[in-house]
Amino acid sequence: MLKVDRINIFYGDVHVLWDLSLYVSAGEIVTIIGPNGAGKSTLLKSIVNLLKPAKGGKENGKISFQGQDLARLSPEDTVRLGMAIVPEGSRVFPDMTVLDNLLMGSCTEPARSQRKATLQEVFQLFPRLEERIQQKARTLSGGERQMLAIGRALMSRPTLLLLDEPSLGLQPLLVIKTFETVREINRRGMAILLVEQNVQFSLEISQRVYVLENGKIALEGKASDLLQSEHIKKYYLGGYR
Ligand SMILES: Nc1ncnc2c1ncn2[C@@H]1O[C@H](COP(=O)(O)OP(=O)(O)O)[C@@H](O)[C@H]1O
Ligand SMILES: [Mg+2]
Repeated sequence: MLKVDRINIFYGDVHVLWDLSLYVSAGEIVTIIGPNGAGKSTLLKSIVNLLKPAKGGKENGKISFQGQDLARLSPEDTVRLGMAIVPEGSRVFPDMTVLDNLLMGSCTEPARSQRKATLQEVFQLFPRLEERIQQKARTLSGGERQMLAIGRALMSRPTLLLLDEPSLGLQPLLVIKTFETVREINRRGMAILLVEQNVQFSLEISQRVYVLENGKIALEGKASDLLQSEHIKKYYLGGYR
């Protein structure tokens, strides 16, 4: 479904992602873990063309989605093709209502003509948003804001959802709820590329994992195998066991 083939990303002269490759198949939950500053957010933004691979004098690879090369497409085009990103920090439009925030997610066709039905699906997943439908987003709690950010992404009817640290800053009960939500969205048929700090939970719900360190894939494999890996146990699960 998604194929990232040896891309290099720079901020100015700083080389952040190095010959990075990964793939996501239909129906999968794939998790990317790695320390702060490893390049996880950069990778997600590059996939949806919010960042373009700068040449930096180097040969560059390519990113394709459902067989289509994304090189010449805008971020909006990637939405139309079926990708949606929930960026780090669950940003919403604070002065807009919950409803308007959600509708913002479905301004392009074909999502636009189906938005009534999609809205019902989002409310089924997050009943709390329906209760708050006319409230300004700024009045929401952190957890509700995160639901709204995910809901808005779902409004574009993606087939691949990219989530950047959705559980960050939430209280423990909401963290668990977030992972249940991710699993439920996946059950509805969406593939998910998840960036998470919460290694134990994210590995439990995903099929495959990539470990990103210093802009390179340090380790990859089945989630169940990586949960047993010494590297993962030592550097990523220390705090949870
Ligand atoms: N807009 C930017 N301009 C310059 N450097 C950046 C920018 N955003 C991130 N970086 C740097 O790129 C590296 C990767 O950042 P990021 O992708 O945010 O990592 P992660 O999400 O894994 O914490 C870090 O060294 C960070 O300081
Ligand atoms: Mg990040």
